[in-house]
Amino acid sequence: MTVKATLTLTPEQIEFFQQAGYLSLPAITTADEVAGLCDIYDRLFATQAGRAQGDHLDLSGTDEDDAPVVLPQILNPAKYAPELAGTLFRANAEALAKQLLGPSAAYRGDHAIRKAPNTEAPTPWHQDEAYWDPTLDYSELSIWIPLQAATLTNGCMQFAPGTHRQAVLPHHPIGNDPRVIGLEVDDPDTYAAGNAACPITAGGATVHHSRTLHYTGPNRSDGPRRAYILTFGTPRRQRATPRRFAWQELQQTKWQERHAAAQAARERSGAGR
Ligand code: NI
Repeated sequence: MTVKATLTLTPEQIEFFQQAGYLSLPAITTADEVAGLCDIYDRLFATQAGRAQGDHLDLSGTDEDDAPVVLPQILNPAKYAPELAGTLFRANAEALAKQLLGPSAAYRGDHAIRKAPNTEAPTPWHQDEAYWDPTLDYSELSIWIPLQAATLTNGCMQFAPGTHRQAVLPHHPIGNDPRVIGLEVDDPDTYAAGNAACPITAGGATVHHSRTLHYTGPNRSDGPRRAYILTFGTPRRQRATPRRFAWQELQQTKWQERHAAAQAARERSGAGR
């Protein structure tokens, strides 16, 4: 069954996004819809869904199989929980992405970041594009949907307004440890001043451009902070002017090893058919 979108952005909201590079939406779906997904979401993390496939990683630690997990992330969670795809927020996210980027905007993927109760694990200031392939040009945005209220106490989104108009800034792995996959912009204190914090109730969402600097704080609450993120973009093109992301060239992470091994296994099984 296809869920129909119910959300239309106002011209003022579209203008705000173009100027500021982010948007806070009080309602992308109902609080009931997201509450109904919490158990499924928690199970994905409890069972480390996607670990063997290279879809489960620790953003902030060294990510060895026996290391304590600091900031777990699942790539492509809808592959492991198809319930996430047939939702009103997914339909509304697609509709607003087309309003903000144009009719050629399409779904690019999803990921999930869960902060356990009472964990000192901020997601440092970064631009999403710093993680991506530097040879491509992007016009993309992400829609961040918490599965409970997001507050300053549990780690709501914070943005540095207007930073989407800058190029991709220099980044480094968290703690300057090349074994860590998570990235932080160099000199984050320069951008943290004047930031816009966006607490939202369950059913709300925030939207950000792929170059908007953003951050979430530690989770100092007694419950988990669950965030589900959908990315949409127009067709990617090869860049006319080359660029290099030096921080990516230095990274040597366990996730890259698992991801490459899973890819090689898929190719072997495909070749055997
Ligand atoms: Ni991000």
